[in-house]
Amino acid sequence: MVKVKTKFYCTECGYETPKWYGKCPGCGSWNTMVEETEKVVKTQGLTSGIFHTKEKPLPIINIESGQEPRIQTGIAELNRVLGGGVVPGSLILVGGDPGIGKSTLLLQTSHEMARAGLRVLYISGEESTRQTKLRAERLGALSAELYVLCESSMDNIEEAIDQIKPDFLVIDSIQTVYLAEVTSAPGSVSQVRECTARFMRIAKGQGIATVLVGHVTKEGAIAGPRMLEHMVDCVLYFEGERHHSYRLLRAVKNRFGSTNEIGIFEMNEAGLTEVANPSELFLSERPLGVAGSTVVASMEGTRPMLVELQALIASTHFPSPRRMATGVDHNRMNLIIAVLEKRMGMFLQNQDAYVNLAGGVKLDEPAVDLAMAVSIASSFRDLPTKPYDVIFGEVGLTGEVRAVARAEQRVKEAAKLGFKRVILPEKSMKGWNSPKDIQLIGVNTVADALAVALD
Ligand SMILES: Nc1ncnc2c1ncn2[C@@H]1O[C@H](COP(=O)(O)OP(=O)(O)OP(=O)(O)O)[C@@H](O)[C@H]1O
Ligand SMILES: [Mg+2]
Repeated sequence: MVKVKTKFYCTECGYETPKWYGKCPGCGSWNTMVEETEKVVKTQGLTSGIFHTKEKPLPIINIESGQEPRIQTGIAELNRVLGGGVVPGSLILVGGDPGIGKSTLLLQTSHEMARAGLRVLYISGEESTRQTKLRAERLGALSAELYVLCESSMDNIEEAIDQIKPDFLVIDSIQTVYLAEVTSAPGSVSQVRECTARFMRIAKGQGIATVLVGHVTKEGAIAGPRMLEHMVDCVLYFEGERHHSYRLLRAVKNRFGSTNEIGIFEMNEAGLTEVANPSELFLSERPLGVAGSTVVASMEGTRPMLVELQALIASTHFPSPRRMATGVDHNRMNLIIAVLEKRMGMFLQNQDAYVNLAGGVKLDEPAVDLAMAVSIASSFRDLPTKPYDVIFGEVGLTGEVRAVARAEQRVKEAAKLGFKRVILPEKSMKGWNSPKDIQLIGVNTVADALAVALD
């Protein structure tokens, strides 16, 4: 009789134990242990390393390197997030909420790559070939070099890879793939881990750029062990608000490039279209000359972006006022409110405060501080801001305005979009020449900034 073993895995770190624990002994997180029955037939290669070369260690200066070649995906925003294109042999994990457009993005990418003459294999474990064809017709993604297969058995997938020999491989999604040797259900911790290890070996061994789609949990992390994110080369998140048509592609890990870049898309019937100039999009619905609204110049990677920041300060009847931040850091907002109370003498303790970045974007750099302070003060005092102002700068605890990086690019973007005046940290004004048709006002304190912006 085959003995069925029960094991418990931590979904955070992959820790394995024969007994259930409320707190994972491996990483200390609570309530992350899941039960799995398994009967692992010992075969060679399961979770073993990917490199089995019998080579001697070499001095690093003797190792040949050469430029890392990149494949252009034909979708500029995706290339930007990946750091200039896909590296052959790399393993990329794309996560995102249900229905956000992961399959759409990857089908469009596959089509563009196939059109550029590469051989592409798109494996779907979630949709039938007919369904995929219908989608491809809607997206206009029909090309002869794009092969589609509906399969979830790892062995059959490997067979198909050997047969087609693709340059680019898409697995939609890793949670549907299963290995016959591992008896737990598809999508379970051990299945996902073993299958990813297999794909890693295929990608590195045969030089196939591979994209895995991953489901996300309710908390927004990629389902499966946290280890999954360590195993792959890049982790991308595709995100967006359900009620907005924009989608943001963000890298949280990238072994071949920076993780600061974001890609911006718009979803419509014909699929995802790239948004080359996000500032225009995020400012399109801006009300002019009202209290509480400012425009902030933020840098996302190497690209400056102008976004509208709104604040609403309203008196409350409750002893502890509400503080709500959407798109900006909640703690940062509390800090700015404290600075305004203490340094500017504004009585905000009996006021609800709501801060919102328009368009569903999230900005986490400190350069939004000054715009947030001006918005809050503007709403509190009911004084309108100037529609031609752009504001950026970090705010310190004593109410001082601190320098931020890349002031020149931010100012240039503001000038390009027709703004007349920029309020920025005085210390950021040195070392570069400003465009002719824009006025720069350097400030050292929040008080200075408010005097200029709300006069
Ligand atoms: N006919 C259509 N017209 C306009 N938009 C559509 C149409 N069909 C689908 N969509 C959009 O595409 C989205 C689904 O995209 P897609 O299937 O790529 O998402 P996904 O992230 O792969 O989802 P899942 O997690 O279910 O695999 C829908 O939420 C909808 O916004
Ligand atoms: Mg899908």
